[in-house]
Amino acid sequence: MSQQLNLVLLGPPGSGKGTQGERLQGDLELPYYATGDILRAAVREGTELGRVAKEYMERGDLVPDDVIVGMIGERIDSPEAADGFILDGFPRTEPQAEALAAKLEELGRELTAVLLIDVSDDEVVRRLGGRRTCVENGHVFHVEFNPARQEGVCDLDGSELVVRDDDKPDVIRHRLDQYHSKTAPLIEFYDHKSLLRRIEGAAAPETVAEEISRTLATLRLEADEAI
Ligand code: AP5
Repeated sequence: MSQQLNLVLLGPPGSGKGTQGERLQGDLELPYYATGDILRAAVREGTELGRVAKEYMERGDLVPDDVIVGMIGERIDSPEAADGFILDGFPRTEPQAEALAAKLEELGRELTAVLLIDVSDDEVVRRLGGRRTCVENGHVFHVEFNPARQEGVCDLDGSELVVRDDDKPDVIRHRLDQYHSKTAPLIEFYDHKSLLRRIEGAAAPETVAEEISRTLATLRLEADEAI
């Protein structure tokens, strides 16, 4: 493993990528780029990107590759990402994965690992059905697994907690279909490149976080041994 830590979080909607990504960002002190968060901020701010993305997101469809690729490419290329980055929700299609590989090659960099957070479809439906998200900053809670201290109010910034438009039951199912048809093929794509590390995502968030820490420690050890 090079000095840089260039990570991708892969997994179905609701697998806990955001929950673990936030933790990792704090632990590793690396920039965290979550395409869903970036797009939702653009929708809130009413930018051109947000206008384009909104209709796709509300339906649970993927936003076109060219829109997403440009958005992430410029972030990876920024000075704050010089020591590494954590990508959540990108890449999500094979063309996006190819574009990421091309961008990294152009920059003389490579991915360290792709962490697949694996959960079943039934668990996805359970988690997204109970998710509550704060309107101001997107902080995430769950009515059963991670409830806010005061119902309907974000613990962190006091703003209102709502159900995301794409967390309605029929949209959740469509997002899962999109995941299986367009994103799941990336599991084999990255496995072939020996970059894939499987994380059991069905456990409690702390247990998942511990498994990720152990995986990263193993990667560091392997990299040290290779020197
Ligand atoms: P995005 O926001 O990326 O949605 P997603 O991948 O479907 O992921 P989620 O945010 O729903 O879930 P998560 O895995 O982060 O889980 P979380 O930690 O919140 O994308 C939204 C849309 O944007 C897409 O549909 C698409 O339109 C567009 N888009 C984004 N990227 C794109 C791309 N690259 N290309 C094209 N379009 C793109 O956890 C879920 C819930 O479970 C929470 O309530 C949490 O508290 C709870 N929870 C988490 N971990 C656990 C646990 N271990 N046990 C119990 N509960 C848990």
